[in-house]
Amino acid sequence: MSSDSSSLHSSAVINEAVQNLRDGGLVAFPTETVYGLGADAKNPDAIKAIFTVKGRPSNHPLIVHLAAPDKFDQAQVDWVPVLAPWVRDLSEDALKLINAFWPGPLTLVFKKDKSVLNELTGGQDTVAIRAPAHPIAQELLRKFKGGVVAPSANRFGKVSPTSAADVRSEFDGMLDLMILDGGDCEVGIESTIIDLSSGDHPVLLRPGLITPGEIFTKTGIKVYLPGELGSTKQEAGLPRVSGSLRAHYAPTTPLRMYAPGRVLDALSEFPDIKSRVAVAVWDSDSSLGEDGHPSVHFEEVIVPSDSTTFASRLYRSLRDLDQQGWDLILFPEPPAGEEWDGVRDRLQRACFGSGPSSSSHANS
Ligand code: TXA
Ligand code: MG
Repeated sequence: MSSDSSSLHSSAVINEAVQNLRDGGLVAFPTETVYGLGADAKNPDAIKAIFTVKGRPSNHPLIVHLAAPDKFDQAQVDWVPVLAPWVRDLSEDALKLINAFWPGPLTLVFKKDKSVLNELTGGQDTVAIRAPAHPIAQELLRKFKGGVVAPSANRFGKVSPTSAADVRSEFDGMLDLMILDGGDCEVGIESTIIDLSSGDHPVLLRPGLITPGEIFTKTGIKVYLPGELGSTKQEAGLPRVSGSLRAHYAPTTPLRMYAPGRVLDALSEFPDIKSRVAVAVWDSDSSLGEDGHPSVHFEEVIVPSDSTTFASRLYRSLRDLDQQGWDLILFPEPPAGEEWDGVRDRLQRACFGSGPSSSSHANS
């Protein structure tokens, strides 16, 4: 979200993107989290094209992206007319969350207005909405004057793209896609998703940069973790989240996490691997050294020990390492603490789905 990123695109290019959306086409665009693959939220055929291009099962709902009202940086902005066409009821809690965090990396799930297309909600009675903060996303949405559905611009089950070049490589040779280039994404992992549709308790569906702790501090609203609700009935009623599949965000190189000082334990699952192992090491740690494991050759890759910086580079690192031909990639287990929940979640899924058959895992 660098301040000059909107200058990467003239308004003529944005206007062309808007026209593409109006014509039912797809446009990839930057958000502060990851790049999205956008389509007109009111056009069923365009929505279907997204599912086809991504290889995503049609019952996995999409997020509707909306423009913030003008002068959103001033107090007393009225979000009600922005949301009214999409959601059935807007609770006081919802408005508090919106005023505190929009535009930004927070997605809220509401009971949907009846006009919202089933194609985008996967037939559910709820709709997920967010107002992204990236200036190019905002300019596109403002000029389009409507909702834009945008999943992350990757093939289903793969690592989300955090640069325009990543998007290009995802769909290379498949389709001639217009991609707005807004530079590298600042947040680097997908938005936090909170379900407000039950009316009782807000529930965290996907952890991200914005944590329940930060939400409580800024708004006094308690967000529950799915496990905290106790009642299995309530959990069974939770909407489906594709990021909640165990395997997701997966590289094709096998990926595992190691506990502090336990690199060799992580390796024991792969007795045949003696070299070409990339080991990510916290920048705050001294290097692994060769002691204790002379039979295996490691290459160290330094990773940030600050959770926000780690998140901003996670997908970049996974993509780059995946391209480099390693036999195995090892990442340190993130420490305890909710600020690490977003990256821990993505790393766990990436480990589970990694390896040459990652796409079949991801689709199961
Ligand atoms: O940061 C983001 O949210 C990015 C950028 C592009 O905005 N988008 C993104 O979209 O991550 P996608 O489609 O890759 O993930 C959307 C998630 C899915 O896990 C989906 O299941 C969930 O949102 N979702 C969408 N509608 C929902 C609903 N009605 N109820 C529950 N979950 C929903
Ligand atoms: Mg995604």
